[in-house]
Amino acid sequence: MSGLIKWDEIERQICIEKDLSVLKTYHAALGSKEFRKQIDGSIKAINKCEKYKIKIEIAFGEHYKKLKSEHIDHYNCPSTNLTTSKQQAQEEIGKSRETINKYARMASVEKTDEFLEEYEAKCNDRGVEMSSAGFLKFAREKQHEDLPKVELPEGKYNVIYADPPWPVGSIVMDKWESPINEKYPTMTIDEIRNLPINDLSAENCSLFLWTTHTYLPDALQLIKEWGFKYHCVITWNKHSGWTQFGFHKMTEFLIYAYKGKMNIDQYGKAIPTLIDENKTHHSKKPDSIRDLIKSKTPEGRIELFARDKYEGWEAWGNQL
Ligand SMILES: C[S@@+](CC[C@H](N)C(=O)[O-])C[C@H]1O[C@@H](n2cnc3c(N)ncnc32)[C@H](O)[C@@H]1O
Repeated sequence: MSGLIKWDEIERQICIEKDLSVLKTYHAALGSKEFRKQIDGSIKAINKCEKYKIKIEIAFGEHYKKLKSEHIDHYNCPSTNLTTSKQQAQEEIGKSRETINKYARMASVEKTDEFLEEYEAKCNDRGVEMSSAGFLKFAREKQHEDLPKVELPEGKYNVIYADPPWPVGSIVMDKWESPINEKYPTMTIDEIRNLPINDLSAENCSLFLWTTHTYLPDALQLIKEWGFKYHCVITWNKHSGWTQFGFHKMTEFLIYAYKGKMNIDQYGKAIPTLIDENKTHHSKKPDSIRDLIKSKTPEGRIELFARDKYEGWEAWGNQL
């Protein structure tokens, strides 16, 4: 029965015509129980409907991205223009802000067609229904699979600067429209605990460890377990932050701890414990902090979970 549905016409609408009102009609129909009753009801047929529904959602995401790019000056006036393009998309597509964010994330998947076919085959094999959330999870896992497995170096370091992938829940990450490749793989607290920080540290070693409000207690505990002595915290006021309710968490923390003798240059300009710098990209920390550490510490420095290489630093991470 699913042969009666004009898949070619739907495909043509998605790829060529891109008429929003037609796509909206198909989208509603493909998801409706009545429409699905018309097909043979097998998991394969239902998944075919869902696959095309997902394709349409990706087209909606692309439409929103196009609207957003048309606001060429939005970097100068972020809130006004971003809100405008999102509101416009909300109105045109008839969905909530969160749903438009989800469509934008879906449209950020790089190998959409390839991943969608694979996801469909996997769901059919397992006899489970496809969904847009399932597709996003599948695509994210596929992208993570492409990341290299990296071995930690064996040396001893005087300075360790680390920004671990704390297990920030998808409840936080999935609220945003940010591209899915920004969603790096996270580690459990135990995996972070098992990092051989002790093996990497010289007799006298400074440890700078990034953490968030949520993981501050864990970070303090880990420092102790790794054999370091807590000294102080540098607070980064990033001027933005997501919160579900209550406190607006627009700060992150860089804990300073040391082992042996403190090897920080304590003369000259004082080291600030407050850094006031706007957030740039997702999870990117201000480069000025790395420079500050470099100016106050001896050579033999390593950055863990680094994304770029910097002079005076060894770098380790799976996105380098
Ligand atoms: C919080 S981000 C680091 C951001 C970085 N400090 C910056 O300013 O751009 C954490 C990084 O850890 C990486 N990562 C996650 N799991 C990893 C693993 N098992 N081995 C190495 N790197 C990993 C992620 O891919 C991500 O690049």
